[in-house]
Amino acid sequence: MRIDVITLFPGMFVGPLSEGIIGRAINDGIVSVHIVNLRDFCEGKHRQADDKPYGGGAGMVLMAEPMFKAVESLSGENPLRRVVLTSAQGSLFSQAKARELATEESLVIICGRYEGIDERVATGLNADEISIGDYVLSGGELPALVIIDAVARLIPGVVGSPESIEHDSFSKDLLGYPQFTRPPHLRGLSVPDVLISGHHAEIAKWRRREAIRKTFRMRRGMLAGALLAAEEQEFVRQLEKGER
Ligand SMILES: C[S@@+](CC[C@H](N)C(=O)[O-])C[C@H]1O[C@@H](n2cnc3c(N)ncnc32)[C@H](O)[C@@H]1O
Repeated sequence: MRIDVITLFPGMFVGPLSEGIIGRAINDGIVSVHIVNLRDFCEGKHRQADDKPYGGGAGMVLMAEPMFKAVESLSGENPLRRVVLTSAQGSLFSQAKARELATEESLVIICGRYEGIDERVATGLNADEISIGDYVLSGGELPALVIIDAVARLIPGVVGSPESIEHDSFSKDLLGYPQFTRPPHLRGLSVPDVLISGHHAEIAKWRRREAIRKTFRMRRGMLAGALLAAEEQEFVRQLEKGER
């Protein structure tokens, strides 16, 4: 997959894209990420990227024309590229959205700054406006990195073991199960016996139940969409009654 990111702050991508799983995927050529400096498409002595908002009000707005030019500079390779625009006003990013974007051959991600981007960019590019959460950040660079990370780890070959993605939170409409590692006893806290038993069927059963318990505690609303067996539904009823 090829990802182009349009930003006024290219330096913000250097560290995060050179480390860990994503750094390795880029090194191995499974994913290529190209950072495009919006300033290169701005005009005038000061290469101005922003201007005052029509209608008045505080702050500045990123102008549409440099953004269009930056996207057009990339579109030679594929004019139908999927464009994602980071915005606190966008629809909420999710694992389902990451899965959908991971099927694309290429993506363009636009990072906003200041009071945001002239609305004509989203309209003119038919962009997918994505928010990474209900809070406001100073720019779209961290959201772009979040989207790149979540999408890239779903591309075959990026995460070493496909099994670990299968068991990730949200992959089955449940959160993940709790994990433990050595030592078995630590500061009065112990690893559940079943995990040391070597009994694979019992371990799988325990993990499934604990994933349900964790989802019940942390994100109860998710359980409504989860596919649960009859005995698991009974387990949820017991959790509701405080019996478990
Ligand atoms: C300070 S914010 C602009 C906020 C805007 N005035 C509003 O009320 O929605 C500047 C840029 O940061 C990015 N941004 C901020 N919060 C975000 C979020 N939760 N998800 C995605 N992008 C976000 C967007 O690219 C946005 O254009």
